[in-house]
Amino acid sequence: MTDTFDPKQYAYRVSAAGRVNLIGEHIDYCGGKVLPCALSLKNTVYVRPNGTDRINISWTDLDETVTLEIGRLDSYRDLKHAKYHAGSAYLWQQAGHKLVGCDMVHDCTVPFGSGLSSSAAIEVSTIAALAAVAGEEFDRVEVALIAQKAEHEYAGVNCGIMDQYASACGKARHAMLLDCKTLACEYIPVDLLGCTLVIANCNKPHNLVESKYNERRAETETALRLLGKKLAVDCLAEIKPYQLEEYRAILPPVIYRRAKHVVEECERVRLASIAMRRGNMEMFGELLNASHASLEKFYEVTGKELDSLAHAAQSHVACLGSRMTGAGFGGCTVSLVRKDGVESFKAYVAEVYERETGYRPTFYQADIADGIVVEQL
Ligand code: GLA
Repeated sequence: MTDTFDPKQYAYRVSAAGRVNLIGEHIDYCGGKVLPCALSLKNTVYVRPNGTDRINISWTDLDETVTLEIGRLDSYRDLKHAKYHAGSAYLWQQAGHKLVGCDMVHDCTVPFGSGLSSSAAIEVSTIAALAAVAGEEFDRVEVALIAQKAEHEYAGVNCGIMDQYASACGKARHAMLLDCKTLACEYIPVDLLGCTLVIANCNKPHNLVESKYNERRAETETALRLLGKKLAVDCLAEIKPYQLEEYRAILPPVIYRRAKHVVEECERVRLASIAMRRGNMEMFGELLNASHASLEKFYEVTGKELDSLAHAAQSHVACLGSRMTGAGFGGCTVSLVRKDGVESFKAYVAEVYERETGYRPTFYQADIADGIVVEQL
């Protein structure tokens, strides 16, 4: 594919972002507030109408073309790479939008399976590209909601809205304080005052993420069902830490631990957004560390590799805080590091982590960027 690909032959270039979540992990599906940023790592789609009733998909880095028939979009759930595209197109169509036959080339710079939301970037950019080539205006929030449905129905992950929302609605140089219950979003300028964010991939090949993720989500639903008998709440995020302690006895121990993470993480997000607005990087960093500890101990989604990577980072003198980001069970950490110490930080973390686990981490260079970008070519 790469040999013949000429961007000038396409009508639009449409991209959507990967994301890093700064804090607020595993609480989007409990109605909590989260604090992600969209990244310059993104999925870009080059698209042009082809006058047929088919969508042809190819990739800059795969020697493969997949053809989807617009009238049969429901029948492609088993495709390895194109199921995300097929699911997105199908659910967009089901929501009443027009689809036109087109050729699309995908170019993804979000590393797969890294916890930086490559699948959200693919789903969101596919929908935005389909809308652009059909001459439709689109609403970013609707695109995010449909992309989330595609993830549920085609990828089998019962995810919250954070990733798709950040991928669609992100804003350069801003973090997004997203209320996952109401979808209200406040953009907070990211000024890290002499610090920078370092994203590191633990590079552990992970599997069963989907089933473990769905299991955690089900556990929070059990917690809400049990606590809902005592408290008038619609979601776990509405429960205060002291209320959870009051009703601790009615919860099985494992369900209590999951709920404890959720209600305390909500409180950490509140404090972290204050710290960010005030430029209090020490406080922000401490909250990152506390979030990781809770994901390790109470939510149990980290594992040996992410723990080693985060702990190595936390022990470096230039690091103010570090935590896993995304679903966990592998993937990335995000660390707040003084700019003048970044090189020594990376060398130290790589050495300690490799010694402890046998894997070498990868560090990514990325800026905080916009969500969907549509350009006419
Ligand atoms: C994945 C999901 C999100 C969110 C995070 C954990 O990235 O797609 O909805 O639940 O895990 O915070």
